[in-house]
Amino acid sequence: MKRALSGLLPPTRKSGEPALADTLFEALTRASAADVDALTHGFHAWPARMHRCVASVVLDGLAGAPVVDPFCGGGTVLIEARVRGRAAIGVDLNPLALRVSEVKVDVRDASSRAAFLARANEVAQSSRERVKARVKVRAPLSRAQVAQWHPHVLLELAGLREEIALVKERRDRRALEVVLSSILTKVSRARSDTDERGREKRIGRYLSTELFARKAAELVERWAALEAAVAKPKSPVSLYEHDALALHEVVKPGSAGLVLTSPPYGGTYDYASHHAARMPWLGLDDRALLRGELGARRRATPASWDAEVRAMLAATARALAADGLVVLLLGDAQLDRVRVAADEQLARLAPSAGLRAVASASAPRDDRRGGAAREEHLIALARP
Ligand SMILES: C[S@@+](CC[C@H](N)C(=O)[O-])C[C@H]1O[C@@H](n2cnc3c(N)ncnc32)[C@H](O)[C@@H]1O
Repeated sequence: MKRALSGLLPPTRKSGEPALADTLFEALTRASAADVDALTHGFHAWPARMHRCVASVVLDGLAGAPVVDPFCGGGTVLIEARVRGRAAIGVDLNPLALRVSEVKVDVRDASSRAAFLARANEVAQSSRERVKARVKVRAPLSRAQVAQWHPHVLLELAGLREEIALVKERRDRRALEVVLSSILTKVSRARSDTDERGREKRIGRYLSTELFARKAAELVERWAALEAAVAKPKSPVSLYEHDALALHEVVKPGSAGLVLTSPPYGGTYDYASHHAARMPWLGLDDRALLRGELGARRRATPASWDAEVRAMLAATARALAADGLVVLLLGDAQLDRVRVAADEQLARLAPSAGLRAVASASAPRDDRRGGAAREEHLIALARP
């Protein structure tokens, strides 16, 4: 079974307002036990993807609309909001996040799913013919990026991309691009999205096409499960490629009933590098992400991380309704040799944004990279 977080263990402590703390504790308990990948959740890898049970238990326990996720990533909160008929707004500075979320929250009926599958199979068939005829085609990559795939895999992927570009139906074309994105790491020389060290893998001819066809079929099955789970009538989900520090530009100030989100964990991931290889395949521009990514391992320091968390809290507070609640899932930061406990940091910085920590629950992380065990915290903030 794939795990959404790097080994989230059952929670060990909770504090604050009892009913709220119970909900947060329950969310982490369920996340440590249940399958993470139901519905469309498991369709595309996302580093530090939120466990769906964190979103579902919090949404079931706490009212407030719209639900806003300023760091929506692969769309976990948005999917669970949609299932519950709660209006939701997803924001992320990473263009890939919006593309992946768009596909994962898409609710399609049986005929739309069948039409999509037929198009995916046509693309796969044309790709097989290209491979057989050894058709030459250029991949849209820099020299450094090219080295991540074996030459014959590169050719096959570039052929798939060209075939996808010929699909006229925009909704299907965009979904097929995300299907292509979902197989890129598997057929590359990298071990995973977050581990770019090379590993020799045997990737035979046609394998990329077969994986593509299989992933398209998997998506169709996941869409069917989503359609069956979604509340009627469907709630709107709005998506914005935007900086969470300028949230007021896309979310009306004072309007968010519930902000439920998982910001980057300080010094832990580097989304711009983890996703760099996918961007050109989808024609995405990651320059804003390179400039504005919060907590990025490539540059975070204890001082910069404090400043970023303060700015993130201020932007979130500005979007929040007077009686709104903010629920953050945040892991302890690792900044060079300095560990910053996320619950203490949020409690310390929340007042600068006119907020206060009202409840929290914490779970240890089974961090295989060693060092002192880190924790993951689910923390509720409200106006005093
Ligand atoms: C922990 S992940 C969110 C995962 C998400 N909850 C899910 O389940 O897939 C953090 C996200 O923050 C995004 N991010 C980083 N800096 C940002 C910024 N300045 N504004 C908006 N999003 C940002 C990253 O692209 C990443 O998707």
